[in-house]
Amino acid sequence: MEPYYYRLGEVYDEENKGLIADIPFYLRKAREYGGPILELACGTGRLSIPLAREGFDVTGLDISKPMLHYARKKAAGLDISWVEADCRDFKMDREFAFIFLGYNSLSHLHDLDSLERCFSRVREHLRDDGHFAIDVFNPNLTLLSRDPDKRFLVNTYEDPLGRGMVSKWESNEYDAKEQVNHIRWYYELGNEEFIEKLDMRIFFPQELDALLKYNGFTIEEKYGDFEGSAFNKDSLKQIVVCRKNEGG
Ligand SMILES: C[S@@+](CC[C@H](N)C(=O)[O-])C[C@H]1O[C@@H](n2cnc3c(N)ncnc32)[C@H](O)[C@@H]1O
Repeated sequence: MEPYYYRLGEVYDEENKGLIADIPFYLRKAREYGGPILELACGTGRLSIPLAREGFDVTGLDISKPMLHYARKKAAGLDISWVEADCRDFKMDREFAFIFLGYNSLSHLHDLDSLERCFSRVREHLRDDGHFAIDVFNPNLTLLSRDPDKRFLVNTYEDPLGRGMVSKWESNEYDAKEQVNHIRWYYELGNEEFIEKLDMRIFFPQELDALLKYNGFTIEEKYGDFEGSAFNKDSLKQIVVCRKNEGG
């Protein structure tokens, strides 16, 4: 069977259909900052599409052809520019009022070079008065230190491609040197089982703030949830909104 999660937009959307709390947040921020808007790592357009429906000029960029293919299909009739590119390495001849990297997508960039390249691209494409937002997890130490030999049930759902019920299990092993959480997903579908790997960089709060600071950004707001609560030690998320520094 072919790889599943990030490759098949239908499956990604099915697995994330309960994830809606961030949509009103990005809509509020878009109304505050205006367009044009660039979503980096836009996936199936889960966030880009509601923004375009509100009339914003939206560009969605992602590295995955199949995710973008499904995004295009879902967005039929909407005027969204879809760009297949790496968020570390792209050039567009325009600037944006609002750029964001939602739903833990920064965690796909594991090393300093990748992060610096991505932040440089953001600065190049952000208007001087523009805003840049990121949301990533606040590291959950209990989850990171789970026994790597144990599997935990994530969810069960009807395969959107009509192949029956899917059970998704996961294990993880955290590399505390590289700060990368090596996640393994085990999908059971009928008599088949297949494994998918996902490696996610973990960002500790002070580290994320420092990375932004030393890459030319000033943090304006840091929230701990999408309702806009101030970030605190118990927050599940780190949602940061920043501006680029003068001359950046
Ligand atoms: C967790 S999904 C988020 C998708 C979408 N933003 C959302 O909120 O549903 C992460 C996305 O990052 C994309 N991605 C991973 N590495 C990338 C890179 N270097 N450049 C651009 N996109 C990347 C994946 O293809 C995937 O669509």
